[in-house]
Amino acid sequence: MEFADIVARRRSVRQFEPGVTLDDATLHTLFERVVQSPSSFNVQHWQFVVVREAARKAELRKLSYGQAQVEQCAAAVFVCGNLDAHADAARIYADADEEMRGKYVPMIEGVYRDQPVLQREEAIRSGALAAMTLMYAAQDLGWDSGPMIGFDAAKVSAYLALPVHVVPVMLVVLGRAAAPSGPRGYRRPLSEVVHLESFGGASPA
Ligand SMILES: Cc1cc2nc3c(=O)[nH]c(=O)nc-3n(C[C@H](O)[C@H](O)[C@H](O)COP(=O)(O)O)c2cc1C
Repeated sequence: MEFADIVARRRSVRQFEPGVTLDDATLHTLFERVVQSPSSFNVQHWQFVVVREAARKAELRKLSYGQAQVEQCAAAVFVCGNLDAHADAARIYADADEEMRGKYVPMIEGVYRDQPVLQREEAIRSGALAAMTLMYAAQDLGWDSGPMIGFDAAKVSAYLALPVHVVPVMLVVLGRAAAPSGPRGYRRPLSEVVHLESFGGASPA
């Protein structure tokens, strides 16, 4: 599918066709694409918990303020962020040339050590980029999606048995839309959000 079509077709779906399943092979293809996403220093903070069992989705719906799409979707993908991902720098750069390894491994350790705010920001940034790749990759394969933050993070973390250093970033529900989406919601004009050269500058014509 053309990228412009993928962007145009992606909508936040809140009602999915019941009984649709998403198999392991499709998940494998999707996540092979998702892990090509960029991340700071290539640290790859993302972690994904994919829930497909009906009873577990029903339970997660309760922890998501009753939002029906969590139960109706084919897969509820909890995109998470690993606050300690930087600790693997040596492994990530193991195959890099010596100069690069010698430069980046200490740099990464220095940048993140004892920096809990930065660790969290980076985990959220990387997770958010991965979530976007997931939604576009899904659309490309004919799957609809919906990003969500409307869930109780503490209760969901406990339910999914997330370790303390792994935080939920976003839930992405995947499935087949039960009906075509309505018109897209209002978008701020480019003149309001794009600034050439400095804030307040003109926007591209
Ligand atoms: C971080 C984030 C959290 C969201 N949380 C929810 C949610 O909990 N429930 C929901 O129905 N939609 C949620 N949305 C979807 C937005 O409402 C939707 O993206 C927005 O209205 C634009 O519509 P579109 O995605 O169809 O273009 C969320 C979107 C984002 C990016």
